[in-house]
Amino acid sequence: MKPTPSAVRSFHEMVYSWWELHRRDLPWRRTRDPYRILISEVMLQQTQVSRVLPKYEEFLYFFPDVYALSRATSAQVLRVWKGMGYNRRALYLKRAAESVVHTYHGEFPHAESALMSLPGLGLYTARAIMVFAFEDDVAMVDTNIRQIIVHFFFGGVAQKEKRILDVAAKLVPKGKSWSWHQALMDYGALELPRGNATNTPRKKTSVPFADTDRFIRGRILDILREKRTSEKTLIGDVMKQYGRNEQRCRVIISGLIKDGLIVRAGSVLSLPE
Ligand code: ADE
Repeated sequence: MKPTPSAVRSFHEMVYSWWELHRRDLPWRRTRDPYRILISEVMLQQTQVSRVLPKYEEFLYFFPDVYALSRATSAQVLRVWKGMGYNRRALYLKRAAESVVHTYHGEFPHAESALMSLPGLGLYTARAIMVFAFEDDVAMVDTNIRQIIVHFFFGGVAQKEKRILDVAAKLVPKGKSWSWHQALMDYGALELPRGNATNTPRKKTSVPFADTDRFIRGRILDILREKRTSEKTLIGDVMKQYGRNEQRCRVIISGLIKDGLIVRAGSVLSLPE
């Protein structure tokens, strides 16, 4: 399906007139610094705007540019990341900063393929930098934008990614990619019907967060953010406080080590310095 020029025009009209009344003033919209855009986008990937706002400022206070982040230890970055969850994102950001410094002399590349070669960056994040930092006329598709397109152009019926991207590309107004995508972000966040607009079945059962391994990973990292700890003590504490058996604790610790989030030296666990 290819939207007609008049369908595209009226969609622009609708989104932009809605946006005049509802646009949000967000700190990452007051900059075109690709470093700041990257930090905001990675934070926003799994975390709500209201929780990102204070952490974005704090993170930039400690790591104001790509050099500062590349010089920091993983432990320092993980400490500042506290409370955000999905901690691997913090390590990816640090590695991406190292790559920009070492491979690109501290200047973010502009090409999509070069951006995508940075650690942790996929197509969405590469395009987000192109659009929000460099104001390039390319289309970005995240969950919300996909949902908007499916809703307005496919009657709510889920589509293959390629078709969504094709429509998204047709919709980008020449020279206005920055405002267009910010408007779609706001429309998606504030206006879209929540729930099942795409006809995709939603998860039927949801496990309480406190019962997940991810919850325990977070608690172990919180313990180690405070101080290095013997593995035996840490396992004992987790077993007692969160009711996990020793084997489960060991599996979770191995996973954290494999992900580079913690290190083991002899019998002691710590953050990676
Ligand atoms: N989520 C991802 N990018 C965003 C942006 N620029 N504004 C609001 N929410 C977002």
